[in-house]
Amino acid sequence: MINIGIIGFGTVGTGTVRILYENRDVLRERLGFDINIKKIATRDVNKERGITVPEGLITADVNALVNDPDIHIVVELIGGIHPAKDFILSAISNGKHVVTANKALLATEGNEIFEAAYKAGVEVGFEASVAGGIPIIKIIREGLIANRIHALYGIINGTSNYILTKMTEEHVEFSDALKEAQQMGYAEADPGLDIEGIDSAHKLAILAFLSYGMPIPYKDIYVEGISGIATQDIEFASELGYKVKLLAIAKESNNEIELRVHPTMLPNDYLIAKVEGAFNAIYVEGDATGSTLYYGRGAGDMPTGSAVVSDIVSIARDIAKNATGRVPLLPMTERDIKIKKMDDVLSRYYFRFSALDRPGVLSKISGILGNYNISIASVIQKGRRIGEAVPLVVLTHQAKERDVRHAIKEIDLLQVVMDKTVFIHVEGREDV
Ligand code: HSE
Repeated sequence: MINIGIIGFGTVGTGTVRILYENRDVLRERLGFDINIKKIATRDVNKERGITVPEGLITADVNALVNDPDIHIVVELIGGIHPAKDFILSAISNGKHVVTANKALLATEGNEIFEAAYKAGVEVGFEASVAGGIPIIKIIREGLIANRIHALYGIINGTSNYILTKMTEEHVEFSDALKEAQQMGYAEADPGLDIEGIDSAHKLAILAFLSYGMPIPYKDIYVEGISGIATQDIEFASELGYKVKLLAIAKESNNEIELRVHPTMLPNDYLIAKVEGAFNAIYVEGDATGSTLYYGRGAGDMPTGSAVVSDIVSIARDIAKNATGRVPLLPMTERDIKIKKMDDVLSRYYFRFSALDRPGVLSKISGILGNYNISIASVIQKGRRIGEAVPLVVLTHQAKERDVRHAIKEIDLLQVVMDKTVFIHVEGREDV
């Protein structure tokens, strides 16, 4: 029997406990022994959670759990940096294995936590930190171990995907869609983390660490959220044959890696563009496998609880076979890999200029684009309002980010341009 202690009895904690009780028989059949919840530490001991646990299991004293010599695995499900980090480091220094769903903590402090765990000879499971019910951590650490990962694209924030889907399908404005997403219960306590792309960047940092054998690169990720996306951009994108998604991107070429999170236009016929609502998906291109795609629920009590229990089981199996550390956290040799500056990234772009409807305006704008080596692929102008601002939409061929930023700055100074230009990165084939 393996004893576990759980810190945090909120949404994910409740899902984890429910799975461990409701699927106890199937887990016993598969494992040959029981996973026993010895203690659950929570601030709110008396809260009604719709689940019955044995008398005396719940405590308000986290230290009693972290210091309990009979507990093999400490499961941290409170989120946030402090005190979660302190509990985890105490558990590690007491020789306990750790399971955590805490993406923000791992993205920002994970290097220190993994180092401490490595030195103490204990395991850290973090399947639940990225994409909930999709076992993407195990896929990258084990399933795709034979591959060099050329590229990874993730829709890994359910809240943003829910908002963008609502804006696309029901033409609702951003703020109304956000309110609905919060009611669904997927949003972070601070929804700014979701809509400003930070939650996706936390998860991308963890995936890049695993895919590229580098220290967790959170600080080097370019991050842009979806709060600047207007319904009209989604409608123009749709007219051009694209969906707008908040995409987390990692791409490697010539020992350089691009790491970025931003709203992205994807061709409608790409499978990942069809991922709607609060669902998550991760596309991984390996040199041996070619394209692979993983889809599922990225949040919620039971999908995330499933990921937590899978880590508990992996560690329990390693303990039972005396094989802890079988799948090491850190690569045996860390790769010296350069992260590409966002300014040097090549992409295609969508621009929406608010330009006066007057002869010669397009040539002024395209002249500046041309000066910066930005080639136009298509143009749409809707309506005729002589002397007033109209949206002028331009799709470009591949251009350099630095050139695009300089060009937009210059264009926004033109007297015929009435508002700040909106631009969105475009991924996919050039022929769409
Ligand atoms: N706020 C996150 C999301 C929850 O919307 O995907 C899962 O990490």
